[in-house]
Amino acid sequence: MARVTTTSPQGPAGSAFVRACRGLDVPHTPVWFMRQAGRSLPEYRKIREGVGMLESCRRPELVTEITLQPVRRHGVDAAILFSDIVVPLAAAGIELDIVAGTGPVIADPIRSRADVDRLRPITVADVDFVDEAVRLLVTELGATPLIGFAGAPFTLASYLVEGGPSRTYTRTKAMMYGAPQLWHDLCARLAEITLAFLRVQIGAGVSAVQLFDSWAGALSEADYRRYVLPHSAAVLGGLAGSGVPRIHFGVGTTLLLGAMGEAGADVVGVDWRTPLDRAAATVGGRAVQGNLDPATLFAPWPVVEEQARRVLAQGRAAPGHVFNLGHGVLPDTDPDVLTRLVDLVHTASAR
Ligand code: CP3
Repeated sequence: MARVTTTSPQGPAGSAFVRACRGLDVPHTPVWFMRQAGRSLPEYRKIREGVGMLESCRRPELVTEITLQPVRRHGVDAAILFSDIVVPLAAAGIELDIVAGTGPVIADPIRSRADVDRLRPITVADVDFVDEAVRLLVTELGATPLIGFAGAPFTLASYLVEGGPSRTYTRTKAMMYGAPQLWHDLCARLAEITLAFLRVQIGAGVSAVQLFDSWAGALSEADYRRYVLPHSAAVLGGLAGSGVPRIHFGVGTTLLLGAMGEAGADVVGVDWRTPLDRAAATVGGRAVQGNLDPATLFAPWPVVEEQARRVLAQGRAAPGHVFNLGHGVLPDTDPDVLTRLVDLVHTASAR
């Protein structure tokens, strides 16, 4: 197992990852993977045996161990807190579960004014387990940065309104177009919860945050700007003075990248559909993160290597590049390929 020890005199703030987020010079392109902690790792499957997903997110020692697993195994340049985007919604009073193979399922979906009123603000006491897990992790990780995260208002609203995952977002869009005031009130509440949740993580010591608007690509740019951007901007803008870089990510967002940057991101996450040099031109002046197609990891190694080198070359067009996949690690991925990819990124990008 390859290990890369990140040494940095200034701790995580001086790490290659944080420096790349800020567009500063780096010794090598930093790399981490969305969903790096999860089912691709046998040690994850073992430790999760008999423990539900939500329950595992609420046990700080377990969260710490699961978060550290991919750092130990792959030598990635950053850890990402093991949690889920629906954790703050459960803390805000929404009855839900995370069903294996499906995703979040909401007991009573949000469709009316009375439903929106069920969402209450959260305080640190509602997510004290996250506060504790981050503090434990920051101590364990030393100079390796920890990324905190939350779901963005649109992606959270899509689960709450649909009641679970969706392909068409029919009910979500029906509310957006048919009851715009209710929609905006729902998203404003979600922005408040999300901001509070990220502030807890920053207060406990994370070195960066990522706002996941995974399903924003379902919207046109005009609708994104009108119905979504103001709420994501309330979250990202609310963290402007926090001192940590803000990453903003979604899937299928080729035409939204400019707007997602304008919402207040320091780094724009890019899926595999948009070459990073094109993305860099669109988000002007911001760093980019991405964007190897996660399915590439099932191809023979020479293909993985060629594609990873292409991503590195295209990433040089931006002031900063954080290497990642274009979306999360697929559960059947061979973890040895991930380890080899980390080594390749470090070697091929060494300055
Ligand atoms: O390593 C990491 O990236 C950190 C962990 C993480 C999880 N969820 C753990 C998880 C992160 C960052 C998330 C965020 C999340 N959750 C998103 C945004 C990221 C993305 O993928 O776009 C979304 C849309 C969700 C909602 C969600 N939760 C889905 C779609 C699923 C998968 C359902 C399935 O089983 O296929 C979950 C469950 C979930 N979240 C798992 C993990 C490791 C799998 C559950 C398990 O291991 O039993």
